[in-house]
Amino acid sequence: MNLRSLPAALISVAARGAGAALRRRPPTLDGVRLVDYWTVGGIGPRTVDFLAAQIAARRPRRILECGPGTSTVAMARAAEALGMDTTITSLEHDEAWAAVVRRRLRRAGLERRVEIVVSPLAARSGEPFPWYRDAGRAAARGPFDLLFIDGPPAIDGEPRRWPAAPRFWDALTDGALIVLDDGRRAGERECVRLWREQFGAGLEGDLAAVEKGLWALEKRAPAMPDAEVVVAPWVKRAAGAL
Ligand SMILES: C[S@@+](CC[C@H](N)C(=O)[O-])C[C@H]1O[C@@H](n2cnc3c(N)ncnc32)[C@H](O)[C@@H]1O
Repeated sequence: MNLRSLPAALISVAARGAGAALRRRPPTLDGVRLVDYWTVGGIGPRTVDFLAAQIAARRPRRILECGPGTSTVAMARAAEALGMDTTITSLEHDEAWAAVVRRRLRRAGLERRVEIVVSPLAARSGEPFPWYRDAGRAAARGPFDLLFIDGPPAIDGEPRRWPAAPRFWDALTDGALIVLDDGRRAGERECVRLWREQFGAGLEGDLAAVEKGLWALEKRAPAMPDAEVVVAPWVKRAAGAL
């Protein structure tokens, strides 16, 4: 379902609610206000806090996003507040929405950090749902240390966001963080189940109880099956004494 198909009254109620949350407790980082608007259906203030904390701790050089909006401005401003050169590449299927977000970024003076790649959603053989046809253009900007997935829209309980991890896997650094929003929904749970099935020990993490639920999963370096294990003498002595 497209948000535009919702009755205008419902959208306006949601927007008023979001505005109230922003006035109550606007997310900040080192005293810098991270957000000055909310997207209806986008991330909320605690998710902004979560992303800002991850950016502060991990200091990603490049961020990749599916579905721009409030999150894009918040992550770009967090990087700015931290004095980092981080750039963001964000994939969007809707040209009109991309224009709205670009305008917001310009107004916030953050446009030089962010490239919004507009790509139609298209079916691909072997994949049940349409996804960003030109994802390769975004992947070419990598490698990325953080992947934030909040698009394409998927409110029908289907795992529409599943392609993000396999299609971007090779464009992610070892240790990269993958964050999937709307994590409590059946479709997003199914995405994670499928990723775990595919990547096994290469993916580690859990669902964080933040607003709509955030899956925070880390890409692990491949295990080295033939690596020699060296045991220090004191370990052997200690083990012998047991
Ligand atoms: C939930 S939004 C992305 C939100 C973004 N990450 C944020 O934090 O604001 C996911 C997708 O919904 C679409 N979208 C956002 N606002 C919309 C609106 N008012 N009407 C229709 N589609 C919208 C965009 O295509 C976007 O990629």
